[in-house]
Amino acid sequence: MSNRYTRLSADQAVALINNGDTIATSGFTAAGTPKACGRALAERAKAEHAAGRPFKVRLLTGASTGPSVDQALAEADALSFRFPYQSNAAIRAKINTGEIPFFDLHLSHSPQYVEYGFLGEVDVAIVEVTEVTDDGKVYLTTAGGASPTYLALAKKVIFELNSYHNPRLREMHDVYTVAKPPYRKEIPIYHPLNKVGKPYTQVDPAKVIGIVETNEPDECAKMAPYGDVHHAIGENVVAFLVGEIKAGRIPAEFLPIQSGVGNVANAVLASMGSDPRIPAFHMFTEVFQDACLDLMDEGRLLGASTCSLTLGTESLQRIYENFDRYAKKIVIRPQAVSNNPGLVRRLGVISMNTAIEADIYGNINSTHVGGTMMMNGIGGSGDFTRNAYISIFTAPSTAKDGKISAIVPMVSHCDHNEHSVQVMVTEHGFADLRGVPPGDRPELIIEKCAHPDYRPLLHDYIRSTKGKGHIHHDLAHAFDFHLRYQKTGSMMPAETANRES
Ligand code: COA
Repeated sequence: MSNRYTRLSADQAVALINNGDTIATSGFTAAGTPKACGRALAERAKAEHAAGRPFKVRLLTGASTGPSVDQALAEADALSFRFPYQSNAAIRAKINTGEIPFFDLHLSHSPQYVEYGFLGEVDVAIVEVTEVTDDGKVYLTTAGGASPTYLALAKKVIFELNSYHNPRLREMHDVYTVAKPPYRKEIPIYHPLNKVGKPYTQVDPAKVIGIVETNEPDECAKMAPYGDVHHAIGENVVAFLVGEIKAGRIPAEFLPIQSGVGNVANAVLASMGSDPRIPAFHMFTEVFQDACLDLMDEGRLLGASTCSLTLGTESLQRIYENFDRYAKKIVIRPQAVSNNPGLVRRLGVISMNTAIEADIYGNINSTHVGGTMMMNGIGGSGDFTRNAYISIFTAPSTAKDGKISAIVPMVSHCDHNEHSVQVMVTEHGFADLRGVPPGDRPELIIEKCAHPDYRPLLHDYIRSTKGKGHIHHDLAHAFDFHLRYQKTGSMMPAETANRES
């Protein structure tokens, strides 16, 4: 290990950060995200505030982070800007009160957005590593994220050297840097497991202001066990895919899978893994979750390209203790490559993401509850959906004990539109929207996906709009479901609910 760089405590390191600085961190989800410096920065902010001095930073990351960054900094009122994704309750609450301005962007676009100068300069990068060499070779931990970009752009760099992580992680990393236009070329990846870059990224050693030594695991949350509804969604995804294989529309060797974040995605993967009609498959995805490791051990997942190992401590230990078993089956890439739209289209990725709500024409809201309240962000769902061989969206047909229908007349916010969304799946079935013109979509989506209790209301809505244009809407009533929920706490009219109970 290099002795070239100054060793600092986390407190000493964050003392070098100024009010108003733009900070960029490693990591993608809680995997590979700095920890000690996040907590120390939050304490610094609290101390400054107690002394009556302003202290806030702008925070750029790969995706969401762990509690030591988003939660600690949000609770310390230390953020004046956040980009490009989050999934923590404390920061979400302040985003939704307007206290923390949040800019939500496709994760494949985020590094280039910063590189093009659209968000101003990066003052300090804080990057978690297993090693930095004298000549500036940087070996990342459990995520590729946007670290190569942030290290290149930052004026000053702090490393968290985390001895908890296995230095053999470098055998999984493939750091390939895409050039800026007009010099950008195709990325020569033709299979999810192709490696085309280096096991390390690079920093100018003159920019390194210190190394903070740590030893702590990632802060990835364990997935909640899933129930019958999530299981039924998984079974319906499998039924759709099996039909496609039988019809010869998916090649016999199958195609790489992308799986989104959250409980529903985890359940879908488990269903795919346990059904022998689905051939063993590869993934080209952004997050390698616990369910992926189980599938790999069962021989169902042959290999995965990912941006991060978003694993609970037990699963990560399983990899560290059996590294030979996994070293050649997992490739960790920067998000500009793991989520690259060109690669998604070239490889023929089948994308599977989760919706907050879908409308009767196949538009998807992934981000804003009721059209106003930010949940997490668009993440990589757009990178994959827009370019997929087949794009699938899943959701339970209702939320909040049936008071909310996930199928609505018109989405209250649109992240993925009818032109990109091909299949909608709930616990009741799947609606295959390929080649289906708008006039025929409502019937299909209502009958296959909506909860039976909400089907008559959705049919009533569409009947009231007949004959008006290419897409039928009654703008005076398109948001009646949402307005009723705001007013009464349920999308179901009281008289209907009473009649049924
Ligand atoms: N209205 C209000 N709340 C809703 C809702 C709706 N229409 N639909 C879901 N919710 C709530 C659920 O009640 C649940 O709330 P809780 O945490 O208080 O219980 C929460 O949203 C999560 O729902 P769940 O059914 O458990 O789904 P999930 O964990 O699979 O998450 C998303 C679903 C949409 C929030 C999540 O997938 C997401 O953030 N997606 C956007 C980013 C993305 O797709 N990334 C993947 C790219 S690779």
